[in-house]
Amino acid sequence: MGLRFLQALLFLSILFFFPANLLVYSSNEDDPAIKTMEQFSGFATHESQSCSASALSVDTESLQRQIDELSTFSDTPAPSVTRILYSEKDVLARRYIKNLMGLAGLSIREDAVGNIFGRWNGNDPEIPPVATGSHVDAIPYSGKYDGVVGVLGAIEAVNVLRRSGFKPKRSLEVILFTSEEPTRFGISCLGSRLLAGSEPLADALRRTVDGHNVSFFDAARSAGYAQDRDDLSSVFLKKGSYSAFLELHIEQGPLLEEEGTSIGIVTAIAAPASIKVDFEGNGGHAGAVLMPYRNDAGLAAAELALAVEEHVLQSGSIDTVGTVGILDLHPGAINSIPSKAHIEIDTRDIDEKRRNSVIEKIHHSAITIAKARKVKLSEFRIVNQDPPALSDESIIKAMEDASEELNLTRKWMISRAYHDSLFMARVSPMGMIFIPCYKGYSHKPEEYASIENIADGVKVLALTMAKLSLK
Ligand SMILES: *[C@@H]1O[C@H](CO)[C@@H](O)[C@H](O)[C@H]1NC(C)=O
Ligand SMILES: *[C@@H]1O[C@H](CO)[C@@H](O)[C@H](O)[C@H]1NC(C)=O
Repeated sequence: MGLRFLQALLFLSILFFFPANLLVYSSNEDDPAIKTMEQFSGFATHESQSCSASALSVDTESLQRQIDELSTFSDTPAPSVTRILYSEKDVLARRYIKNLMGLAGLSIREDAVGNIFGRWNGNDPEIPPVATGSHVDAIPYSGKYDGVVGVLGAIEAVNVLRRSGFKPKRSLEVILFTSEEPTRFGISCLGSRLLAGSEPLADALRRTVDGHNVSFFDAARSAGYAQDRDDLSSVFLKKGSYSAFLELHIEQGPLLEEEGTSIGIVTAIAAPASIKVDFEGNGGHAGAVLMPYRNDAGLAAAELALAVEEHVLQSGSIDTVGTVGILDLHPGAINSIPSKAHIEIDTRDIDEKRRNSVIEKIHHSAITIAKARKVKLSEFRIVNQDPPALSDESIIKAMEDASEELNLTRKWMISRAYHDSLFMARVSPMGMIFIPCYKGYSHKPEEYASIENIADGVKVLALTMAKLSLK
């Protein structure tokens, strides 16, 4: 302990007296300045305290400028951001990110659906790397921080580590995931689901079209991907491809800001499920068909929406949530009894069993309601029913240690929104870092995180990656 402290002190004083070293960036492995750093970094003795918290500095000006510039690749006017998968603006945003990856000295690879990987080779490039990343697609009229902080922040974390003189043992990799948002093809986390090896998804994409009947593969090809039409198996990652996966993200909830806490250490990601339901009745004239003779599909849907709320509230846990965000009536005229109703239900919980039992009750209600109202339940389809993900203990520990060394206040929390991390957890140990955001706003133009909070998150990310890289 004492020796290590002295080493750290020596390291610090070297940094202090030779601050120019901090500015050295070179991909040249033989750079003498970096070599000197290495000697004090603990590699020789395989001590892992090589990265000193106080040597980490974030270039907040550049990072803020990048966030602002990226937000201009949008199909709606500022301050809103709209960036849809494989659109022209998405392609420009990808180009922007690849340019920054190149400037950070990362070697870039893209897979068949456009997941983008930027790698910093470590001293031991053969062992599984530590990866981090998020997404830059944005739902219509959203903000400029969701996902973006985890991509631009990850590239800046690499720059932070380079400036500090750190040399990774395991390679470090920054990932931009394709289509975390379901906007275009109705599939959330499309890129990370495929990386996690989802064969059903790879198969379904052959028949998937967007709202304008453009096929997934045509859209991907227009953005320069998926040259090999039918085969997406090249996207699948083997389990163990990464030793750790980290994601930095705005909280999208109000807790950290309310409590004045800097860092949220995510211990679990809630398990989402979504369901599509269709009811069919006979419809008819709103004046001519008297009440006893109706079978109103719209009222069946309304009743089911209330049943969703009831079942969720009865679960007995504050962690169970359910939402009916879509309710479409056909033909949708004021003087016409709805002959068809389509509703979509989202339900989540950190307890998979409890969530599944809510789904069963919703299904039972749909059948009962259809019977009572003499409408046909023409579809009850569970679109996805994903398990929750738990963060890895040793990654939680590394995030804790990093926050502590940086003197940042922190708390454990659950991610109630899901992220690419939910799927990366299937192929890699996973951990997530949350930072506060204004009033918890997200998916709207008012979304905001201060550059100071973002910089704290970037430092925790950088230091955690450094620690995991040496393991
Ligand atoms: C954290 O606080 C301690 C004690 O006040 C101080 O010695 C250390 O330099 C601080 N570290 C950072 C990274 O600010
Ligand atoms: C969508 O495109 C396919 C193939 O181009 C075509 O066969 C189909 O009729 C189209 N569907 C609609 C609803 O336009």
